[in-house]
Amino acid sequence: MPLPSSKRLFFSFLLLSVSASAFAQQQPSSAAIEQKVTTLLQQMTLEEKVGQLNQYSGRELTGPASNRKNDLLNSIRSGQVGSMLNVKGVKDTRDIQAEALKSRLKIPLLFSLDVIHGYKTVFPVPLAEAASWDMAAIRLSAHVAAKEAAASGIHWTFAPMVDVGRDPRWGRVMEGAGEDTYLGSQIAKARVLGFQGEKLGGTDAVLACAKHFAAYGAAIAGRDYNAVDLSPQQLWETYLPPFKAAVEAGAATFMNSFNTLNGIPATGNSYLQRDILKGQWQFSGFVVSDWGSIGEMVPWGYAQNPADAAQKAITAGSDMDMESDAYHQNLAQSVKASKVEVAQVDDAVRRILRKKFELGLFDDPYKFSDLKREQKVLNDPQNRVAARQMAQKSMVLLKNEKNALPLSKQLRKIALIGPLAQSKRDLDGGWTVLADTTEIVSIYEGLTKRAGTNTQVSYVKGCAVTGDSRQGFVAAVEAAKQADVVVLTVGETWEMTGEAKSRTDIHLPGVQEELFKALKATGKPVVVVVLAGRPLIFNTIADSADAILYAWWPGSEGGNALANVLYGDYNPAGKLPASFPRAVGQIPIPYTQYSTGRPVTKPGQIKYKSAYIDELNTPRYAFGYGLSYTTFRYADLKISRPTMTAAESIQVQFTLTNTGKAAGEEVVQLYLRDLVASVVRPLKELKDFQKVMLKPGESKIITFTISKEKLAFYNQQLAWVAEPGDFNLMIGSTSDDIRLEGKFALVP
Ligand code: GLC
Repeated sequence: MPLPSSKRLFFSFLLLSVSASAFAQQQPSSAAIEQKVTTLLQQMTLEEKVGQLNQYSGRELTGPASNRKNDLLNSIRSGQVGSMLNVKGVKDTRDIQAEALKSRLKIPLLFSLDVIHGYKTVFPVPLAEAASWDMAAIRLSAHVAAKEAAASGIHWTFAPMVDVGRDPRWGRVMEGAGEDTYLGSQIAKARVLGFQGEKLGGTDAVLACAKHFAAYGAAIAGRDYNAVDLSPQQLWETYLPPFKAAVEAGAATFMNSFNTLNGIPATGNSYLQRDILKGQWQFSGFVVSDWGSIGEMVPWGYAQNPADAAQKAITAGSDMDMESDAYHQNLAQSVKASKVEVAQVDDAVRRILRKKFELGLFDDPYKFSDLKREQKVLNDPQNRVAARQMAQKSMVLLKNEKNALPLSKQLRKIALIGPLAQSKRDLDGGWTVLADTTEIVSIYEGLTKRAGTNTQVSYVKGCAVTGDSRQGFVAAVEAAKQADVVVLTVGETWEMTGEAKSRTDIHLPGVQEELFKALKATGKPVVVVVLAGRPLIFNTIADSADAILYAWWPGSEGGNALANVLYGDYNPAGKLPASFPRAVGQIPIPYTQYSTGRPVTKPGQIKYKSAYIDELNTPRYAFGYGLSYTTFRYADLKISRPTMTAAESIQVQFTLTNTGKAAGEEVVQLYLRDLVASVVRPLKELKDFQKVMLKPGESKIITFTISKEKLAFYNQQLAWVAEPGDFNLMIGSTSDDIRLEGKFALVP
């Protein structure tokens, strides 16, 4: 009997891991590749070397004839281009690779693309995937994206974005893994391994690209492309670890960022790119600039002109120039004028050629461009199974009162209301490659299919996402009155979050909350589904809805996944990877708050305390928060010893029990607090977590190990130290729902 699809999927993933590692043994040794790179480098002219450092967008190449298209083709044919982005599909990549092979040395192009959360099969946006806290599922998502992209001629994806994002005014929080450094580091590793597999060279893997290096998520005021000012401790403690995790996972490439870091543009920042990345971390891959960021050092006021920008960028360790043309126009002359050392150009070229050899492109420049494989891989039904499972895992149950959820299978009528209920494109969110709406299951389609013939689903739009028209309210209220339950879909459209989508107001847009109030006034139960790419503010709904499910932008299978969660076929287990503020004025409001010298110790007693006079200090929903259709009990905390030295470790154990009626998963979270240190430490920091499946009534003993690494931090001298002293240990279902507490001490 065939395995159920989830089992099949798991075993196919398992098989893949084995085959990939077996495949790794067939890879040519790195010494052999180094020799090939050296031999090729010795044959190259200075112009050909600079050619490898240029990357251009290829949208024009597949369009009608134009000057730009001819110029680009001529540059490609003369070996003046190392990589193209935004060329996809077997046919186009083959055609353009053939142009590159007309060059003197026939060096193949690298084809790159923003495959951020799926290629043809669209997965939930990365922030949504982070809410799954499921590393295997996240890795599988990246692997499916890589398989599909690699089958379509793509060698290199500009993902994962590993920027810690603590400011939801910044639209790019959607692309990352949320506010926490530890969770973000685990996810960075999972995504790099998912995209690249165990070793490069397979036609089901692509080069990963850890971006945006570095600290792009700390843009002042949450305004995209803005400056970043950080203390060294914050840089090292909060923003760099996910990038280090990406290096340790073998990330083949990095992308730098548009922001300055303490006054120096990341693109021209040798502290970041040479001292840290290529020096301390021994990164052997290459760094691509972000789009035009080399040239942007002129408007930043850091470079006099593009020639100066090119010199500063190559000297600082930016190996490849995406779309600014500064290297193409200026670098060879700068070398000839001894303003740039040829050794720096050689190092950049070496890094790029190394990846082309590791991918096997010199052996077969067309190995990723196979029409039969493209058809087979892009239509593999297992890919949609993986997308549906990830979408289910990413959804977060924020509220569920009076057993509003799961929906009863005996319901006579559901009123499905809201501006996103029939939308397809919005479910894919930003950074989709093909945006093929025929591939997307809308909420209306998913819900009507799942409801079956016994339950009628009536749809009324009610209002638009934006604007102040209330004309649709009457029909919506009428539909609600006729129904047993209202499912209201609210949120933002896919263009409202992502790159260059900073917002000063992250309230639910338009009159959607007013529509909610009108529906609530009917007295019918109202289940609210929020579709968004970032945390939003919706206090009226939060106060009065019967149930709230944060569905993010769930991708191609969104409608099916949501129906499965609403009906309880899948018990939601998502936990928020970011704090949701009550008000924009609270931002940034990560859970890693400090005590301060005047903490609020009694609710309401805020006089001369570190507090607001017009809002609470706490978020509306905390980092790590998410409900289930069942309940869990945490009990019997045991700490193996009251003290440990830096050479020892402590075992922490407790018993987790499913005390409800439905099988379900719980993400148990371990937080620590260093009570007194040479640099004040946050009230709590996530140091470990486990996602545990339990049947009703089942118990399991959960164990965490605390080692010195979990106690360390960067001190005033930027040394990574664990200082002797007392620690609080907290086991939580959420960062603000601590179920078990204990203490231990680190002793000299
Ligand atoms: C964009 C983004 C970057 C993306 C690149 C190529 O501006 O900042 O994340 O990978 O350009 O599209």
